[in-house]
Amino acid sequence: MIETLGAKAASAAADDLREVYFSAFGAPGYDEPAERADQFADEQLPTHAARPGFKLVVARSAGAITGFAYGFTGERGQWWPDRIAEAAPEIAAEWVGGHFEFVELAVAASAQRQGLGADLHDALMADLPHSKALLSTYTGDRPAPRLYRRKGWQLLLPHLTPTAALYGKHLTR
Ligand SMILES: CC(C)(COP(=O)(O)OP(=O)(O)OC[C@H]1O[C@@H](n2cnc3c(N)ncnc32)[C@H](O)[C@@H]1OP(=O)(O)O)[C@@H](O)C(=O)NCCC(=O)NCCS
Repeated sequence: MIETLGAKAASAAADDLREVYFSAFGAPGYDEPAERADQFADEQLPTHAARPGFKLVVARSAGAITGFAYGFTGERGQWWPDRIAEAAPEIAAEWVGGHFEFVELAVAASAQRQGLGADLHDALMADLPHSKALLSTYTGDRPAPRLYRRKGWQLLLPHLTPTAALYGKHLTR
């Protein structure tokens, strides 16, 4: 079951989201420390939840959150869009500003490879008012970039940073 949460409900669910984040990004091959999951739940999420256009979708199984995805309206003056503008001004001129910034997608390790990631992606992207969307993901061959390419995202920049590629998607309603 996939459900959309507003900023207040997202904040109430922060501890569950922390656990899912750590299960997904703390797994072997990703190896993010527990402190990064804390930074996500205690700082990143509240900051992003306050931004215009914030949308969070969660998957639940027997009441427990097993996966989530979220984004908001990206604008210049925000940290990541400004990194894009610095690294690739010509891409930024076309894509950055008023776009949907697809920030995070994570599925708990025990719930992966059942189609949840694809369903969360689709629920997050459904009925957005934006005309374009941007995301950054791993450069290597991993489940996340494979999923985004299957979903029609276009590779804009293979190396926005040494480890991050930039993808864009035109949205039609
Ligand atoms: C990326 C991520 C969210 C995908 O979640 P998921 O729920 O496993 O996604 P899906 O099940 O939709 O698809 C994943 C794979 O399972 C396969 N799959 C889906 N349903 C399946 C099923 N019923 N049986 C077997 N395989 C299945 C898909 O084809 C896909 O295969 P691929 O990786 O070889 O291309 C998850 O791997 C994750 O949390 N990774 C760590 C965090 C991360 O990388 N986040 C994105 C940051 S940009």
